[in-house]
Formats: sequence, structure tokens, C-alpha cells
Amino acid sequence: MDLKLVPPNFLVTTADKNKVVMVNKAYQAVAQEVMDNLESLKARSGSQFSQGRSPAPVTVQGRAKHWVLDVNKGGVDRIIVRRYVRGGLINRWLLGDLLWGVNRPIKELSVTESGRERQAPVPEILSLRLHRAWGPFWRADIIFKEIPETVDLYAVIMSLKKLTDQPRRFHEEKKKIIKAVAEAVRSLHQAGVWHQDMQLRNILIRKQADQVRAYTIDLDRSKFFEKLSFSQKVNNLVRLYRSIEKWGIGRGVIRISDRCRLLKEYFRDQEFTRQKRWVISNRCEFNLKLHKLWWSVSRMI
Ligand SMILES: Nc1ncnc2c1ncn2[C@@H]1O[C@H](COP(=O)(O)OP(=O)(O)O)[C@@H](O)[C@H]1O
Ligand SMILES: [Mg+2]
Repeated sequence: MDLKLVPPNFLVTTADKNKVVMVNKAYQAVAQEVMDNLESLKARSGSQFSQGRSPAPVTVQGRAKHWVLDVNKGGVDRIIVRRYVRGGLINRWLLGDLLWGVNRPIKELSVTESGRERQAPVPEILSLRLHRAWGPFWRADIIFKEIPETVDLYAVIMSLKKLTDQPRRFHEEKKKIIKAVAEAVRSLHQAGVWHQDMQLRNILIRKQADQVRAYTIDLDRSKFFEKLSFSQKVNNLVRLYRSIEKWGIGRGVIRISDRCRLLKEYFRDQEFTRQKRWVISNRCEFNLKLHKLWWSVSRMI
């Protein structure tokens, strides 16, 4: 097993042929305690970790299986536990949470930490546990510190819809959100991270008084580069735009002018020529047409 990718701020506390545990040195004691009790924590409420805001483990929506648990000690309030699952419907149906080797979770740890080191708005990882199921197949759990008081961008757009009868507030709110999202994606990219799944559910928004901040989460299969190319950046921006269209939630809320605003904010101190804008708009429209075709075909089968 290649543990070279384990970031220096993580300590490998168990490493035998069937089990590997690594914990964030900044939270070593509590992270180890969570790891040692993970199964019982997941299984039952009322444990020493679940006495806080939510008495029972809460599950959140996502591709994988998640648990949200209260910890309330050692600088950690709540944690999100994510069990890795296979991508793709057939693969997931056949293999569920069995991973081939351990590269995928270790890479997510490494990319997330590289991003954090360079001030990207990504979550903090508490620990990672890898368990051999049989032969080359492993199961993996990754544990994050919860970014408190956040909602995903999908839910934020849904709630914006309710403000359309108050035009002034609606526009002000929308502007702030677009600015925060552009800033988050930009910082992620400046830190050298290309997101593999840049979509509404992987952007979390935190509103505090008048301030809006966005975070980019879920760096599973994302990649780290010293510098992202223009094309990689555009790929992420186009993908984000497509996810708004895919769920159709942008109707009546998100306009072409909002896409322009996002791009302007994103490229604010870089050269953003008419040609670049043209390239991005074309890619957005072309990509969308292709996907619309695919969505209608997949609805028929
Ligand atoms: N660090 C975190 N802080 C707060 N909420 C989180 C955090 N990580 C995940 N979540 C919540 O869990 C959901 C799914 O998590 P994610 O890591 O995107 O897994 P999936 O692979 O299922 O998409 C997110 O949309 C978000 O609501
Ligand atoms: Mg996700």
C-alpha cells in the first residue's frame, strides 16, 4: 500500500494488512476516539458523542452513505462520516461500497489537504479509516468536521425562488450569493484544485448577518495541479452552470446575466477578454445542448 500521499499533518495510527487509520494531528486525541468508537457511534444515539444538538445520528442527502454526529470535544462540534461507494449505477449495484485498493480515499485526503494548505475553502478532514473486506477490496470511511450553519447551493436557489415577489431583496441576495460562489470556486482553482464534480450540491453556503460565504466540498476524484489551465477552469464553471440547468431549478431565478456576473466576479483581476467570454458562453451552450439530448434519451429508456 502506498502511503506516500498521506499529508504530513496526518498521523498513521494503525497500518496493518487489513486496516489503516490516519488522523489529523491537530485533533489527534478526539479523532482517534471517534475512530475507535465509530461503529457504535453510527449504530446508536445517546452515546457520549451524540448528546448535543441532534440526539440521533442524522443522515444527509448525497451519493454515499453519511452520518452526522455530535462530538462536542477537543475543538470538534459535529462530524460528517462518509462511507465511500462505487460510482456508476451498475458498479454500485454490483459492488456497493467495495473499493478496489485504497488509492481513491487517500487521494481525496491528499487533494483536500493540498487545497487547505493554499487557503481553498474546503472542509477539514478529521480522519480516514480503511478496512480490507476481502482480497483487493476495501471499505473506507472519511470523517470531516462539519462546516456549521451551511446549506447547499441547490437549497439556496430553491429558497431564492420564494423571494421573487420582493424584487429588491431577491436581487441583493442573489448578487451576494453569486459573488460568494465565484470567490469560492476561484480560491479553489487558485489553490490548484480541479473539482471532479462541480455542482450545486457540492457548494455550501453560509449566511451570517450580512455576510455570505461559500465552500467547495466533496473532492472525491478531484485533482491537484501546480496551476490550472484556462480550459480546466472553464470545465468546472461550465459543469456548475449545467447542474443548474439539469435540475431545472434556475427557471425564473437564474438568468444568462447571472452567468455573466459569476464569470466577471470569477475573472475579476485576470484578463477577461470578449474572446474568453465568447469561448465560455459557447462551451456552456454546446455542453448544455449535448446533455439535454442525453437527458431526454435517458428519460426514454
Ligand atoms: N464538511 C461538511 N460540512 C457540512 N456539511 C457537509 C460536509 N460534508 C458533507 N456535507 C453534507 O453532506 C452532503 C453530501 O456530502 P458529499 O461529501 O458531497 O458526499 P456525496 O459523495 O454523497 O456527494 C453535502 O451536500 C452536504 O450537505
Ligand atoms: Mg457531493
